[in-house]
Amino acid sequence: MSSFSDDWLALREPYDARARNAKVLAAVAASFEQHDTIQIVDLGCGTGSTMRALSPLLAARQKWRLVDNDTELLAKAMAARPLECVAATAVTLDLNRDLEAALDGPINLVTTSALLDLVSEKWLERLAMKVAARSIPFYAALSYDGRIELTPVDPFDTAITAAVNAHQRTDKSFGPALGSAAAAIAITLFQSHSYALVQGASDWVISSDDCKMQSEVLAGWAKAAAGTSGLTAADASAWLTRRRDAVDAKISSIRVGHIDVFAVPMRTR
Ligand SMILES: C[S@@+](CC[C@H](N)C(=O)[O-])C[C@H]1O[C@@H](n2cnc3c(N)ncnc32)[C@H](O)[C@@H]1O
Repeated sequence: MSSFSDDWLALREPYDARARNAKVLAAVAASFEQHDTIQIVDLGCGTGSTMRALSPLLAARQKWRLVDNDTELLAKAMAARPLECVAATAVTLDLNRDLEAALDGPINLVTTSALLDLVSEKWLERLAMKVAARSIPFYAALSYDGRIELTPVDPFDTAITAAVNAHQRTDKSFGPALGSAAAAIAITLFQSHSYALVQGASDWVISSDDCKMQSEVLAGWAKAAAGTSGLTAADASAWLTRRRDAVDAKISSIRVGHIDVFAVPMRTR
């Protein structure tokens, strides 16, 4: 499965949904309690996971603008509109090139999930500047933060984690990616624009019964690690074999660290 395939997004969505930080979601919902209608832009929406997670918590009528560069994912997102009070439009564009077009028109909230770790610092600065210039609240869920906990412990876990985190920093079409630093940098940036921040952990908890999710995550990490300095392809492959044996024996579990952030402007312009 590729990182943005429909299959992968469908597999991860229940883990994302359970992981989303409840305090952060509640803060987003509370800040729109007085609104009759909300216009929301979801950046890198994939198949619409954030719309499905957030829309039932918002009392207002909602107009979602779903933005992605993958038309097939956008078609799935449009087909899965969750509620009567939710309208959605799909916009196909490259967020690296055309961020300004994605943010065109009236907007009450910008959302994203599992995107900030893919983007560069320069792009995130550009996004924060555009959003802050219009005092728009910003909800960013599920940014990977570099923490990987594996049970049982394997001697190569530390090297694999380091290699995965190095791979996270490679270019994902936005320039050198922020990887595990993304949430911390987003927090600092929005604070510098006089935003108040609500943040919290949104870790994936993948239990010994979740064999398919474990297999996909472990295979993805072994592939990412294999090309990275410090580990040979044979090391990564042997690690994956030992890990798969543990999954088959139902003694394996994984926790993957993520952070959710809600940034609200402290003053209106
Ligand atoms: C990890 S997926 C997250 C999808 C969705 N937000 C979720 O949480 O399930 C990243 C998404 O960003 C989109 N994406 C990646 N690079 C992009 C770009 N340059 N412009 C627009 N979308 C992009 C991918 O197509 C994919 O849907």
